Amino acid sequence: MKGVVFTEFLDMVDDRFGMETTERIVGRADLPSGGAYTSVGTYDHSEIVSLVVELGRETGIGVGDLVKSFGRHLLTRFHAIYPQFFAEKPDLFSFLENVDAYIHEEVRKLYPNAALPEIGTRRLPDGSLELSYRSNRHMGDLCEGLIVGAIAHYGEAHRLERRDHPQEEDKQCLTFLLHP
Ligand code: HEM
Repeated sequence: MKGVVFTEFLDMVDDRFGMETTERIVGRADLPSGGAYTSVGTYDHSEIVSLVVELGRETGIGVGDLVKSFGRHLLTRFHAIYPQFFAEKPDLFSFLENVDAYIHEEVRKLYPNAALPEIGTRRLPDGSLELSYRSNRHMGDLCEGLIVGAIAHYGEAHRLERRDHPQEEDKQCLTFLLHP
Protein backbone atom coordinates (compact mmCIF):
# COMPACT_ATOMS: atom_id res chain seq x y z
CA MET A 1 0.00 0.00 0.00
CA LYS A 2 1.26 3.45 -0.90
CA GLY A 3 2.98 5.48 1.79
CA VAL A 4 0.58 8.41 1.35
CA VAL A 5 -2.15 6.29 2.97
CA PHE A 6 0.11 5.65 6.00
CA THR A 7 1.36 9.22 6.39
CA GLU A 8 -2.20 10.56 6.18
CA PHE A 9 -3.41 7.97 8.65
CA LEU A 10 -0.72 8.80 11.23
CA ASP A 11 -1.33 12.55 10.75
CA MET A 12 -5.01 11.99 11.47
CA VAL A 13 -4.16 10.01 14.62
CA ASP A 14 -1.82 12.83 15.74
CA ASP A 15 -4.58 15.42 15.25
CA ARG A 16 -7.44 13.47 16.79
CA PHE A 17 -5.79 11.49 19.56
CA GLY A 18 -2.44 13.17 20.16
CA MET A 19 1.13 12.26 19.26
CA GLU A 20 1.56 10.02 22.30
CA THR A 21 -1.19 7.78 20.94
CA THR A 22 0.52 7.67 17.54
CA GLU A 23 3.81 6.68 19.15
CA ARG A 24 2.14 4.01 21.26
CA ILE A 25 0.28 2.37 18.39
CA VAL A 26 3.36 2.43 16.14
CA GLY A 27 5.34 0.83 18.99
CA ARG A 28 2.75 -1.87 19.67
CA ALA A 29 1.83 -2.80 16.10
CA ASP A 30 4.04 -5.41 14.51
CA LEU A 31 5.46 -3.36 11.65
CA PRO A 32 8.07 -4.87 9.31
CA SER A 33 8.91 -1.31 8.17
CA GLY A 34 9.38 -0.11 11.75
CA GLY A 35 6.76 2.60 11.11
CA ALA A 36 8.98 5.15 9.34
CA TYR A 37 6.83 5.91 6.29
CA THR A 38 7.45 8.24 3.37
CA SER A 39 4.58 9.25 1.12
CA VAL A 40 6.25 7.79 -1.99
CA GLY A 41 7.24 4.46 -0.41
CA THR A 42 5.27 1.22 -0.63
CA TYR A 43 4.56 -0.89 2.44
CA ASP A 44 2.87 -4.14 3.26
CA HIS A 45 -0.89 -3.78 3.35
CA SER A 46 -1.02 -5.69 6.65
CA GLU A 47 0.71 -2.75 8.38
CA ILE A 48 -2.30 -0.45 8.02
CA VAL A 49 -4.49 -3.23 9.43
CA SER A 50 -2.14 -3.65 12.44
CA LEU A 51 -2.14 0.11 13.06
CA VAL A 52 -5.94 0.37 12.95
CA VAL A 53 -6.31 -2.65 15.25
CA GLU A 54 -3.92 -1.04 17.77
CA LEU A 55 -5.75 2.29 17.52
CA GLY A 56 -9.00 0.42 18.23
CA ARG A 57 -7.46 -1.15 21.36
CA GLU A 58 -6.12 2.22 22.46
CA THR A 59 -9.31 4.24 21.94
CA GLY A 60 -12.05 1.63 22.43
CA ILE A 61 -13.52 2.65 19.06
CA GLY A 62 -14.47 -0.16 16.67
CA VAL A 63 -12.06 -0.86 13.82
CA GLY A 64 -14.79 -0.43 11.17
CA ASP A 65 -15.73 3.01 12.52
CA LEU A 66 -12.08 4.06 12.63
CA VAL A 67 -11.52 3.00 9.01
CA LYS A 68 -14.69 4.78 7.84
CA SER A 69 -13.72 8.00 9.57
CA PHE A 70 -10.23 7.67 8.10
CA GLY A 71 -11.86 7.37 4.65
CA ARG A 72 -13.76 10.62 5.21
CA HIS A 73 -10.57 12.32 6.33
CA LEU A 74 -8.57 10.91 3.38
CA LEU A 75 -11.06 12.36 0.91
CA THR A 76 -10.45 15.87 2.29
CA ARG A 77 -6.70 15.25 2.03
CA PHE A 78 -7.03 14.01 -1.57
CA HIS A 79 -8.87 17.25 -2.30
CA ALA A 80 -5.97 19.23 -0.84
CA ILE A 81 -3.30 17.22 -2.70
CA TYR A 82 -5.10 16.61 -6.02
CA PRO A 83 -7.60 19.48 -6.46
CA GLN A 84 -7.68 18.97 -10.24
CA PHE A 85 -9.63 15.70 -9.90
CA PHE A 86 -12.42 17.62 -8.19
CA ALA A 87 -12.30 20.81 -10.25
CA GLU A 88 -12.96 18.83 -13.43
CA LYS A 89 -16.17 17.36 -12.02
CA PRO A 90 -19.08 19.62 -11.10
CA ASP A 91 -21.14 17.11 -9.12
CA LEU A 92 -20.81 14.04 -6.93
CA PHE A 93 -22.03 11.42 -9.41
CA SER A 94 -19.69 12.54 -12.18
CA PHE A 95 -16.81 12.63 -9.66
CA LEU A 96 -17.52 9.06 -8.50
CA GLU A 97 -17.91 7.86 -12.10
CA ASN A 98 -14.43 9.22 -12.76
CA VAL A 99 -12.65 7.32 -9.95
CA ASP A 100 -12.10 4.03 -11.75
CA ALA A 101 -11.88 5.30 -15.31
CA TYR A 102 -9.57 8.21 -14.66
CA ILE A 103 -8.39 9.00 -11.11
CA HIS A 104 -7.11 5.53 -10.22
CA GLU A 105 -5.66 5.19 -13.74
CA GLU A 106 -3.64 8.36 -13.12
CA VAL A 107 -2.56 6.94 -9.75
CA ARG A 108 -1.42 3.78 -11.57
CA LYS A 109 0.65 5.86 -14.01
CA LEU A 110 2.37 7.61 -11.09
CA TYR A 111 2.81 4.41 -9.08
CA PRO A 112 2.81 1.34 -11.31
CA ASN A 113 2.75 -0.94 -8.25
CA ALA A 114 -0.38 0.67 -6.75
CA ALA A 115 -2.95 -1.86 -5.53
CA LEU A 116 -6.31 -0.39 -6.46
CA PRO A 117 -9.82 -1.78 -6.15
CA GLU A 118 -12.24 -2.53 -9.00
CA ILE A 119 -14.90 0.16 -8.86
CA GLY A 120 -17.89 0.16 -11.18
CA THR A 121 -20.70 2.67 -11.46
CA ARG A 122 -24.05 2.80 -13.18
CA ARG A 123 -26.96 5.18 -13.08
CA LEU A 124 -30.32 3.60 -12.32
CA PRO A 125 -33.62 4.69 -13.88
CA ASP A 126 -34.82 6.19 -10.56
CA GLY A 127 -31.89 8.63 -10.57
CA SER A 128 -29.72 6.71 -8.09
CA LEU A 129 -26.06 5.88 -8.63
CA GLU A 130 -24.92 2.35 -7.95
CA LEU A 131 -21.24 1.92 -7.11
CA SER A 132 -19.67 -1.51 -6.83
CA TYR A 133 -16.47 -2.35 -4.98
CA ARG A 134 -14.33 -5.49 -5.36
CA SER A 135 -10.91 -5.96 -3.88
CA ASN A 136 -8.80 -8.58 -2.19
CA ARG A 137 -7.61 -5.88 0.21
CA HIS A 138 -11.02 -5.87 1.92
CA MET A 139 -11.14 -2.13 2.43
CA GLY A 140 -14.89 -1.72 1.94
CA ASP A 141 -15.07 0.43 5.07
CA LEU A 142 -12.45 2.75 3.60
CA CYS A 143 -14.49 2.88 0.40
CA GLU A 144 -17.60 3.80 2.40
CA GLY A 145 -15.72 6.54 4.25
CA LEU A 146 -14.37 7.96 0.98
CA ILE A 147 -17.90 8.04 -0.49
CA VAL A 148 -19.30 9.72 2.65
CA GLY A 149 -16.44 12.24 2.40
CA ALA A 150 -17.26 12.91 -1.25
CA ILE A 151 -20.96 13.40 -0.43
CA ALA A 152 -19.92 15.99 2.18
CA HIS A 153 -17.44 17.62 -0.20
CA TYR A 154 -20.06 18.18 -2.89
CA GLY A 155 -22.64 19.19 -0.28
CA GLU A 156 -25.27 16.98 -1.85
CA ALA A 157 -27.85 15.24 0.33
CA HIS A 158 -27.87 11.60 -0.75
CA ARG A 159 -28.98 8.64 1.31
CA LEU A 160 -26.26 5.98 1.18
CA GLU A 161 -27.21 2.34 1.33
CA ARG A 162 -24.57 -0.40 1.56
CA ARG A 163 -25.04 -4.02 0.53
CA ASP A 164 -22.45 -6.65 1.44
CA HIS A 165 -22.30 -9.60 -0.96
CA PRO A 166 -20.61 -12.98 -0.55
CA GLN A 167 -16.89 -12.93 -1.14
CA GLU A 168 -15.77 -13.92 -4.66
CA GLU A 169 -12.52 -15.86 -4.62
CA ASP A 170 -10.77 -13.82 -1.95
CA LYS A 171 -12.36 -10.51 -2.93
CA GLN A 172 -14.70 -8.46 -0.78
CA CYS A 173 -17.73 -7.43 -2.89
CA LEU A 174 -20.01 -4.56 -1.99
CA THR A 175 -22.47 -2.30 -3.68
CA PHE A 176 -23.39 1.17 -2.54
CA LEU A 177 -26.57 2.86 -3.63
CA LEU A 178 -26.66 6.62 -3.57
CA HIS A 179 -30.31 7.53 -3.59
CA PRO A 180 -31.24 10.81 -5.24
C1 HEM B 1 -8.99 12.34 -5.75
C2 HEM B 1 -9.51 11.21 -5.37
C3 HEM B 1 -8.75 9.92 -5.16
C4 HEM B 1 -7.40 9.65 -5.24
C5 HEM B 1 -6.26 10.60 -5.56
C6 HEM B 1 -7.23 8.25 -4.92
C7 HEM B 1 -6.01 7.60 -4.82
C8 HEM B 1 -5.79 6.37 -4.23
C9 HEM B 1 -4.51 5.84 -3.81
C10 HEM B 1 -3.15 6.55 -3.97
C11 HEM B 1 -4.72 4.63 -3.24
C12 HEM B 1 -3.66 3.69 -2.63
C13 HEM B 1 -3.18 2.67 -3.63
C14 HEM B 1 -2.11 1.78 -3.01
O1 HEM B 1 -1.95 1.82 -1.80
O2 HEM B 1 -1.40 1.02 -3.70
C15 HEM B 1 -6.16 4.39 -3.29
C16 HEM B 1 -6.77 3.27 -2.79
C17 HEM B 1 -8.13 3.12 -2.69
N1 HEM B 1 -9.09 3.94 -3.28
FE1 HEM B 1 -8.78 5.73 -4.16
N2 HEM B 1 -8.45 7.68 -4.68
C18 HEM B 1 -9.40 8.67 -4.81
C19 HEM B 1 -10.75 8.55 -4.64
C20 HEM B 1 -11.39 7.39 -4.26
C21 HEM B 1 -12.82 7.26 -4.03
C22 HEM B 1 -13.84 8.39 -4.14
C23 HEM B 1 -13.05 5.97 -3.68
C24 HEM B 1 -14.36 5.29 -3.36
C25 HEM B 1 -15.38 5.30 -4.17
C26 HEM B 1 -11.76 5.29 -3.66
C27 HEM B 1 -11.55 3.98 -3.26
C28 HEM B 1 -10.32 3.45 -2.91
C29 HEM B 1 -10.16 2.27 -2.06
C30 HEM B 1 -11.28 1.49 -1.38
C31 HEM B 1 -8.77 2.05 -1.94
C32 HEM B 1 -8.03 0.97 -1.10
C33 HEM B 1 -7.47 -0.16 -1.92
C34 HEM B 1 -8.44 -1.32 -2.11
O3 HEM B 1 -9.50 -1.36 -1.47
O4 HEM B 1 -8.11 -2.22 -2.93
N3 HEM B 1 -10.78 6.18 -4.03
N4 HEM B 1 -6.78 5.46 -3.91
